[in-house]
Amino acid sequence: MRFETACVVLLLAGAASARAEDDAVMRGAAIYARACQQCHGRALAADGPGMFDLKAYGGSFAQFRDTVLNGTGGNMPSQAGNVAEDEIADLYAYVTAEENDR
Ligand code: HEC
Repeated sequence: MRFETACVVLLLAGAASARAEDDAVMRGAAIYARACQQCHGRALAADGPGMFDLKAYGGSFAQFRDTVLNGTGGNMPSQAGNVAEDEIADLYAYVTAEENDR
């Protein structure tokens, strides 16, 4: 393969994986609106009284998954009935997306 061709292939592969990540964030936003927004606020606004601000969330995926499936043991009930197992990665992509950082 010629060098130029290799560069084009690498560029396209990079663009495709960035797109896949954007897709996950967009799917996550829709799941969030359905399952999390009523407590955590519209678009992660955290505008309820004393509400946990997910924009600043820095937990690992394992912690996040555990919270979603089992609740916090505090005021957040398990969301296992509202969110499918394969939706949790998309939710995590949305919550931890760079554009949400402050
Ligand atoms: C019924 C209200 C409610 C819903 C629905 C809800 N949460 Fe929560 N969540 C809370 C509250 C309240 C806290 C603050 C901690 C506490 O009081 O237990 C919290 C905290 C969290 C935390 C931080 C836990 C920690 O301390 O590390 C994460 C992550 C989280 N929520 C994710 C989600 C996601 C994702 C969804 C949607 C699938 C969701 N929550 C839906 C009420 C809710």
